[in-house]
Amino acid sequence: MRFEGKVAVVTGGASGIGRGTAEAFLAEGAQVVVGDIDETSGEAMAREGGERFAFRRADVTREADIIALLDEARERFGGLDILFNNAGAGGSRATIDEITADEWDAAQALLLRSCALGIRHAVPLMIARGGGAIVNTASVAACQAGAAPIAYSVAKAGVRHLSKVAAAQLARHGIRVNSVSPGFIQTNIFASTIADEDGARAQINAVVGMLAPEAQPIARGGEARDVAEAVLFLASDAAAFITGTDLLVDGGLTVGPQSSWDPEVPGIFDAILAQHGVTR
Ligand SMILES: NC(=O)c1ccc[n+]([C@@H]2O[C@H](COP(=O)([O-])OP(=O)(O)OC[C@H]3O[C@@H](n4cnc5c(N)ncnc54)[C@H](O)[C@@H]3O)[C@@H](O)[C@H]2O)c1
Repeated sequence: MRFEGKVAVVTGGASGIGRGTAEAFLAEGAQVVVGDIDETSGEAMAREGGERFAFRRADVTREADIIALLDEARERFGGLDILFNNAGAGGSRATIDEITADEWDAAQALLLRSCALGIRHAVPLMIARGGGAIVNTASVAACQAGAAPIAYSVAKAGVRHLSKVAAAQLARHGIRVNSVSPGFIQTNIFASTIADEDGARAQINAVVGMLAPEAQPIARGGEARDVAEAVLFLASDAAAFITGTDLLVDGGLTVGPQSSWDPEVPGIFDAILAQHGVTR
């Protein structure tokens, strides 16, 4: 019960990584407020969540909704200790030579500005409690091309740097700020942007599950719980000396090319050696 007496707000908490994290905070004693645009799932969670759980419809692209969500934590549970800025979606798949200004702005508002405003409005509430911990969801797409569309990837790179700069500015208030960068996690995010014609979403989810074990050295798909464990660590007193860092939770997806971890796949060095009749 690491979080007994603590109040945590989780955005995008009605599905996937956010939901897994909200449930983990609850299981470890926290009082939890979930904000999400998915009222059906959020209200279903509220019916089962008990007295330490609250749901509020909140669209994180709207500053007023963020303020109201954080206020809910204060009104319902007396304050705010932990904020997990996590809501997100894939957004436009347009490349840099196609993307429109509106598509670009929408991605930044959902993925980056939401975190900045979440931090902005959490600060007074956390100062009133003598400090706090903020975790933002970035992505492996923040550190390499090809993992996600450009507007998403650049926004997530912004989330990592936002976390670092905010950590520098807020340490004097006893507030720590870190980010997590999930890799290939089996959630609804991959299917949620496509129309569900002929069960297309279920098919995509099945493919994601099948491909994930081949994408990285840890040979299984990531689960929401994997990311939740990292978030809980960063939010806990065990991480009291950790701020401004990013924690990759990616099964090793970004360690290097497949040849670096799969003995069946030759790398460039192996190819050069083979040309000279040498094998390793
Ligand atoms: N699944 C992955 O492989 C992966 C990898 C890296 C990063 N991420 C990031 O993790 C976070 C969570 O995604 P997930 O994989 O759990 O996806 P998910 O689709 O299961 O959950 C995302 C949640 O965010 C909510 N949401 C979307 N737009 C919102 C808005 N404007 N306001 C409030 N809530 C909103 C959705 O309703 C949903 O409940 C996102 O920021 C995503 O970019 C996911």
